[in-house]
Amino acid sequence: MVVGEKQSKPRVHDDIVARLAKSIFSGTVKPGQTLPSEMTLCQQYGVSRTAIREAIRVLSAKGLVQARSRSGTEVLAPANWNFLDAGVIEWMQLSYKGADFFRSLLEVRLLIEPEVAVLAAERATAQEVATLEQAYNAMVVAEPGDFEACSQANLDFHVGVIAASHNLVLGHLVTAIRAALLAGFRMTFRANLSWNRMIEHHRLVMEAIRLRQPEDARKAMLALLATNREELLADPEPRRWRSPRPQASQFPAGLAGDNGATVTFDGLVQQFRNLFGAVPQVYRAPGRLNLIGEHTDYNDGFVLPVALDLSTWAAISPRSDRRVHIHTDMLSEAIEFDLDEPDPERKQDWSDYVRGVALILERTGYWLKGANLLLKSDVPVGAGLGSSAALEVAVGYALTRNSGLTMDPVDLAWCCQRAENEFVGMRCGIMDQFVSCGGAVDHALFLDCRTLDSRLVPIDPRARLVICNTMVRHELAGSEYNLRRQDCERGVALLSQALGPIKALRDVSAAQLEQHAGLLPEVTYRRCRHVISENERVLRAATALEKGELHVFGQLMGESHRSLRNDFQVSCRELDVMVELALSVEGVYGARMTGGGFGGCTVNLVAAEAVERFSETVSKAYQDATGQKPAIFTCSPGAAVGAETSLKIATPGTETT
Ligand code: GLA
Repeated sequence: MVVGEKQSKPRVHDDIVARLAKSIFSGTVKPGQTLPSEMTLCQQYGVSRTAIREAIRVLSAKGLVQARSRSGTEVLAPANWNFLDAGVIEWMQLSYKGADFFRSLLEVRLLIEPEVAVLAAERATAQEVATLEQAYNAMVVAEPGDFEACSQANLDFHVGVIAASHNLVLGHLVTAIRAALLAGFRMTFRANLSWNRMIEHHRLVMEAIRLRQPEDARKAMLALLATNREELLADPEPRRWRSPRPQASQFPAGLAGDNGATVTFDGLVQQFRNLFGAVPQVYRAPGRLNLIGEHTDYNDGFVLPVALDLSTWAAISPRSDRRVHIHTDMLSEAIEFDLDEPDPERKQDWSDYVRGVALILERTGYWLKGANLLLKSDVPVGAGLGSSAALEVAVGYALTRNSGLTMDPVDLAWCCQRAENEFVGMRCGIMDQFVSCGGAVDHALFLDCRTLDSRLVPIDPRARLVICNTMVRHELAGSEYNLRRQDCERGVALLSQALGPIKALRDVSAAQLEQHAGLLPEVTYRRCRHVISENERVLRAATALEKGELHVFGQLMGESHRSLRNDFQVSCRELDVMVELALSVEGVYGARMTGGGFGGCTVNLVAAEAVERFSETVSKAYQDATGQKPAIFTCSPGAAVGAETSLKIATPGTETT
């Protein structure tokens, strides 16, 4: 919901929540102190004990306070604050109106943003610094009288600082600041503030980040915010203003976003009209095929996936309430839920992905409208082709677009990954969501999962990517996948005894692993060996693909499969059989399992002219060996998430010869 469009009547405790929150934000009650007793609060506010208790319950749920039985209700430190979600912003909006509200947000920014500036100075990649510089340059050229341009440039700069630190900052910190910015800039900003003075402060922040001087970055950011605050206090009648939108993007220009305007997929549109009586917008998000770099993403490593030409489509139209109604062929019954439900529960089915994405988007500060949704997909489920990510990204994109919001693709990928980690309970890395948001036609995407720097690598036209589905469904969530991740974390903990404070297996070289192998149990050692060697393979494979060295690439695929089979132990008999059969066909450069493992698909790099023979031979031989008929199909890397103009949904796996 857009701030200011309150739809239901506030309850008594909402007002108490707002007033207590205000006393915390304004520093009247500080972190570590306790709130007055229940009885005192009853008298102070002239309301019942129930209303006070309810208010405290709400504030606890937001992480602002913690009720302790003996010592009263303690105000928590900013690090715990989850408060800047849609609900609290709304309360604050209602109670403080205009300037007061904005000033309260400034208090919050004064607490948090300097720390983010420090992180940006410590960790920004060259690309992020360049993005930030662009935003700063836009400020320099903005005319002080051009209210809109000034505000937009200012917002871009601050969002740029956050983007430069946000991979490494804990989620709620980013959440809080982003929400503060969005809400703050929604409120008021006057172009007659001393714009030149503001630019000068921004320049100091910029320079400290560029020169990697964290302490200077902190000081400069503090000074900047303090100036901002003074200017506002001196401006008694700030006016309301429509929010500009953040545009910082880490993707190379032109990669993500809409690919057209009107929807022409008659069947989907017609079904939607029959169900909901409205004409929808249609959005599409692709699945992913990973060429190499398996189980490296959650180890801060490297991956080289492509966006598939198989996708999930979301047809959507807004509702006037805050409910989301979903129809899908994946289930016979419809699902619905309320965006205002405070703590939605997991249903242990596919709808958790939708619920999770909506929840995380809202917590991140994207206020969503209610929606009617119709979902369809031709990404086979449980085949290791990123069907969950395609669903999450399609839903996330559709829900934000439906609410009039534009989202940075990296943020979208990150929110979708969080939904899967925090709500669905699968501790996946970011690869699938990232390539669904940032892949490109005929290209693979090389991604550094630590910095989120990416580059596109063209697929050599002499070769084809052929997918062979073993038809063995993998079951990843909550089971072996999470155990593998734990093994890797154990490896990091044990190795850090010798190597000092390392963060992830990314920080360990093959030589270091061998040197300190004695610290690790055999199984942990082998898990680590896979990840460390796989990272090296991805770097070599990306170079080989760029140079057109298809044989080298194929060899690396073979090594990757052996490592996944022997060391990481995520293959299965059917995958091994499929790979072996593929390698016996002439014209095959390489073959390996793809995705999480335990079933699903193999990816094969095959000479263009050999594809037909390959499909026939492997299909027959696999059927002879296992009694299962495989699905074999060629994949042409597709486009990132976007609006759909026309589409043809294939039935997955029907291209078997
Ligand atoms: C699943 C996860 C990814 C990645 C792969 C293994 O697809 O969603 O994040 O970890 O497994 O490479």
